[in-house]
Amino acid sequence: MKKIIQPRSTPRLKPKDFPGFSSQDLQDLEKYYQTQLRTHDAPEKKVGWKTLESQRVRFEMLTWIAPLKRSKILDIGCGLGAFWGYLKEQEIPVRYTGVDLFPEGIREAKKLHPDARFFARNILKDPYPARTFDYAFLSGVFNVKVENNWAYMKALLQQALRQSKKGVAFNALNAESGLKESDRFLVHPKELVTFGRSLGVKKAHLMDHYHHLDLTLFLYK
Ligand SMILES: C[S@@+](CC[C@H](N)C(=O)[O-])C[C@H]1O[C@@H](n2cnc3c(N)ncnc32)[C@H](O)[C@@H]1O
Repeated sequence: MKKIIQPRSTPRLKPKDFPGFSSQDLQDLEKYYQTQLRTHDAPEKKVGWKTLESQRVRFEMLTWIAPLKRSKILDIGCGLGAFWGYLKEQEIPVRYTGVDLFPEGIREAKKLHPDARFFARNILKDPYPARTFDYAFLSGVFNVKVENNWAYMKALLQQALRQSKKGVAFNALNAESGLKESDRFLVHPKELVTFGRSLGVKKAHLMDHYHHLDLTLFLYK
C-alpha cells in the first residue's frame, strides 16, 4: 500500500529567516514557548509572563502610542491574543490582526478569541504589503536572548515599520532593573532610544516607570 505523507500544517522555521539567530537559538525559542504552552494553564503564563498584571500593564503602555480607535493594527508575536482581549475590554475598537510563529499558540488564540483574525506567520519571511496597518505592536517578543538580539530587533522592527503607516510600539526588558536571568535580553534606556532613532523614524519616544522590569519605545513614522 502507498504510504500517505501528511503535509506539516506550517513549514519548519529556518534560522536563515531569523537574523541574529543561531540554529540553536531557534530550537531553544521553539522549545521554550512549546514548554510554556504545554505546562501552564493560565493564558499569560502559557506565553511566558509571570503574572497577568505584568502582561496587562505592558498592553496599557502600548496603547499610549496614539488614539487607536478604528485604526488597523498588527500584533506581532500575539501569543494567545491577549492584547485583543485587552483592547476589547477597554472598549478600544480596532481592526486587529495577530500573528505568531507558532501554530499551536495560534490555534489556542482562535479558540479563546473566535472574533479576531490570527495567523501563524513570520513577517520577516512572509511580510504584509507596505503600509497595510496603521500601527504594529510587539509585546515580549524581544525578551529571549539570542546570538545577536540587536540584529534581530532591527530586522523585525524595520519590517514592522514598513508594514505600518503611522508607527510601531514595542517593549524590552530594562537592564537597569537588576534582573538577573542570563537567558533574558536586557537593554539600557539610552541605548534603546539611540537604536530606535537609527531606524530612520521621525521620532522615538521612550516610556519607563510603568513597570520596574520594562521599557517601551514608540517609533513614529
Ligand atoms: C512573551 S510572548 C508574548 C505574547 C503576547 N504578545 C502577550 O503579551 O501576551 C512573545 C511571543 O512572541 C512570539 N515571537 C517571537 N518572535 C517572533 C517573530 N519573529 N514573529 C512572530 N512572533 C514572534 C513568540 O512565539 C511568543 O508567542
